[in-house]
Amino acid sequence: MDIAVLGAAGTLGHHLVTHLEAAGHTVRALGRRTGVDAVTGAGLAEALQGTDLVIDTISTPSLSARRAVETHTRAAGNIARAAEQGGARRILCVSIAGAADPDVHRYFAYYRGKAAQEATYLEAALPVTLVRSTQWFEIAGLLLSQASIGPVALLPTMRMAPVAADRLAARIACEVEVDEDSTDRTFALRGPKELTSAQLVRRILARRGDIEGRSPRLVVELPYLGSAIAGGGLLPVDAEVDDMDLEEWLRTSV
Ligand SMILES: NC(=O)c1ccc[n+]([C@@H]2O[C@H](COP(=O)([O-])OP(=O)(O)OC[C@H]3O[C@@H](n4cnc5c(N)ncnc54)[C@H](OP(=O)(O)O)[C@@H]3O)[C@@H](O)[C@H]2O)c1
Repeated sequence: MDIAVLGAAGTLGHHLVTHLEAAGHTVRALGRRTGVDAVTGAGLAEALQGTDLVIDTISTPSLSARRAVETHTRAAGNIARAAEQGGARRILCVSIAGAADPDVHRYFAYYRGKAAQEATYLEAALPVTLVRSTQWFEIAGLLLSQASIGPVALLPTMRMAPVAADRLAARIACEVEVDEDSTDRTFALRGPKELTSAQLVRRILARRGDIEGRSPRLVVELPYLGSAIAGGGLLPVDAEVDDMDLEEWLRTSV
């Protein structure tokens, strides 16, 4: 297949490109650095012309709920239109398990944006595959970069079942082989063990000494993203369970 990956240079995107190419697909690796901006729509129509499948793995975080919803709605709408006009048969959107639940996204702008993104794709003309993943082990770096104050990391309590981004990429590469039909599809993937954000960060720090150059002396967590995120709203029911746990990920990832 000819597959367009938007966000191809990202944490998930670069693994995805590797798996799709290894499976023999022709991959269009797209993002702003290749002149394609999903939010403004610049370069999108040309980039998606004639592709079979469009995978949306871009990330457009925002601290404002209004802005997050606007940005995700606009990007998904632009991608859906360009994909349809370019002749694609399906769109695959990478989303976050639980994020569409109003209890979960009430206090978290980014997840509100993800809910709007899912809703926009579900209303699009082309069939969509929604991939709802739990958080990745790699989220530890992002959490520390966003929630460190000097030597203290004050993390939001998130009860998660983290999975490796590379395992999600491998699963998506299998999904694109599924016989095409015109129905919307959804699947969720989670890791094998539950951890909170502070447990994840502390265990990686204990093994590696730092996470992307950060080595806070104190790692604490508080439920400031709400009780649903702290209490299990990010744990999907009926998810496929990948078997790579944190220990294996620490042994095998760089
Ligand atoms: N992190 C997690 O634990 C987790 C868990 C579940 C699901 N997800 C979802 O997985 C997806 C990928 O996340 P990620 O962490 O891999 O993201 P990432 O590392 O931040 O990469 C996102 C990519 O999107 C591209 N991009 C950003 N804005 C764009 C725009 N306006 N137009 C075109 N490309 C744009 C960026 O490349 P350029 O700078 O070249 O544009 C970048 O390569 C997101 O939708 C996220 O919500 C993440």
